[in-house]
Amino acid sequence: MNKLFTIFGNPVSHSISPLLHNFTMKSLGIDSCYTRTHLQDGNKFKDIFFKNGFEGANITVPFKEVAFEQCDEIKGIANNIKAVNTVIRQHDKLIGYNTDAPGFFESIKEFEGINSALILGAGGTAKAIANILKANKIKCTILNRSKPRLEYFIKNGFKAYSWDTFKIDDFDIIINTTSAGLNDNNMPLEEKLLTNLVKNTKYCVDVIYNKQTPFLKIAKELNKPYKDGSDMLLYQAVLAFEIFFNNKYNKDNIEKYMRKAFKLLL
Ligand SMILES: NC(=O)c1ccc[n+]([C@@H]2O[C@H](COP(=O)([O-])OP(=O)(O)OC[C@H]3O[C@@H](n4cnc5c(N)ncnc54)[C@H](OP(=O)(O)O)[C@@H]3O)[C@@H](O)[C@H]2O)c1
Repeated sequence: MNKLFTIFGNPVSHSISPLLHNFTMKSLGIDSCYTRTHLQDGNKFKDIFFKNGFEGANITVPFKEVAFEQCDEIKGIANNIKAVNTVIRQHDKLIGYNTDAPGFFESIKEFEGINSALILGAGGTAKAIANILKANKIKCTILNRSKPRLEYFIKNGFKAYSWDTFKIDDFDIIINTTSAGLNDNNMPLEEKLLTNLVKNTKYCVDVIYNKQTPFLKIAKELNKPYKDGSDMLLYQAVLAFEIFFNNKYNKDNIEKYMRKAFKLLL
């Protein structure tokens, strides 16, 4: 088969996508390879994709929006998010998808009875999550540190507040999509307010993976069911793999091998 895949990003050396995809391809007997591409100029994304003969690719920070602009066709919810994390080549055309959104939704399927959500943060990940929750009839409120990024959400019919305009309310699930807690011990919101919100919610999720963030520590202390972003990362990769190979392989097997690969990191 000998197909070549990659992940575009900057930085990209930390990405575990090559491990997940290569391990799974090898386990399924697929003779293909998944590499990393450090991209300097996002405007050259499409050109580099075709010149290197890639069959498909994932896209990470900060190129998901610029990649969206260069696709010839966009499928599904990526049209609303206006960002792609997965692309495939179809003849001489580039087809774009967003698997972060359904990947997140799949990762919270164990949590039942969710009708409302509070999303902390208003960046790219918040857009993906807000759109997939809305598509599944879950009411979303966005709460962000500052105002400029709220514009997209207000335009698209979401309730969206900055820290200084927010009034406390009850939500079934609170999702941290900020990078607070990623490389530091920052809270995504003032601690007292966050603790009160967590007291009144059913579930807490942080999209940061393989780490108990300060936000998740509050959830743990208050005995709320919680999870980090490992399953979101895993499912976006499972869904991308299905797209790369046109649904040829059993999804449970893909998930099984990707979980095995993920465990190699722990
Ligand atoms: N598990 C997964 O599969 C997965 C997938 C994608 C992303 N992620 C993670 O998601 C996180 C966000 O990524 P992104 O691409 O959405 O980032 P982004 O577009 O850069 O947005 C970052 C958001 O975080 C807020 N923020 C940053 N530092 C903060 C702080 N100290 N306190 C409060 N708010 C803060 C920003 O607020 P302002 O607007 O005020 O600056 C902004 O809303 C990262 O940690 C990333 O690793 C995980």
